[in-house]
Amino acid sequence: MRKPFVAGNWKMNKTVAQASMLVQELLLGLQAVPEVERVLCPPFTSLMILSAQLANTGVGLGAQNLHWEASGAYTGEIAPQMVKEFCGYVIIGHSERRAFFAESDETVNKKLKAALALGLIPIVCIGETLSEYETGKTGEVVKRQVLLGFKEIDTAIASQIVVAYEPIWAIGTGKASTGEDANAVLKDHIRPALANLFGSAVAQGIRILYGGSVTAANAEEFFHQSEVDGALVGGASLKPSEFIKIVEAARP
Ligand code: PGA
Repeated sequence: MRKPFVAGNWKMNKTVAQASMLVQELLLGLQAVPEVERVLCPPFTSLMILSAQLANTGVGLGAQNLHWEASGAYTGEIAPQMVKEFCGYVIIGHSERRAFFAESDETVNKKLKAALALGLIPIVCIGETLSEYETGKTGEVVKRQVLLGFKEIDTAIASQIVVAYEPIWAIGTGKASTGEDANAVLKDHIRPALANLFGSAVAQGIRILYGGSVTAANAEEFFHQSEVDGALVGGASLKPSEFIKIVEAARP
């Protein structure tokens, strides 16, 4: 049984004071849904204060990125141990990082290894562009992202990984995929690629989320699918009642 998982990716939104207020608005509602693993991913600057606010609530805290090196001359970067001080989770390889900050399957692989080595639960994002989608390359693209991104990961810890399938054309556009289409990508391409690397028993235990314009109105459509174990939510995670409804919809 894969425990449902919903993460809110706040992206580059909220000052510390605003983040703290948003957590206050979310907390009661989120605490009422322990059947779902729920995680908030604010900007780095709010991690310290939110880690105190979320202590002993059952609600997890994640960073949106990390560097793979332990320390050194990497201006503007955050080391895995610095994330680990406050967080249990970290998003890796979000399509915005890939598009705007030159992240690749190779850097994703380094970050994934660094996160796993510290016991952080990585949420690894994959997904095709609009032109790849339109030319029928979705399967090929996500398989490559899994094979390269998850290269040389120890099978014994692979089940810690959470995968987020986010078609790039669906992110922040209001044009979500359909439950059926997303499920088909997970079933026909992503889980088989994971099985290739780790064997089918381990692959069956790895949680795969859908992400891209998830709202309270469409969440159930995704969560009812056999392969979809939850969601990575961007825009809607900044709206307390909306995000709480999405988490509630993920109840098994
Ligand atoms: P969105 O973003 O829900 O705003 O489409 C999802 C994501 O980028 O993770």
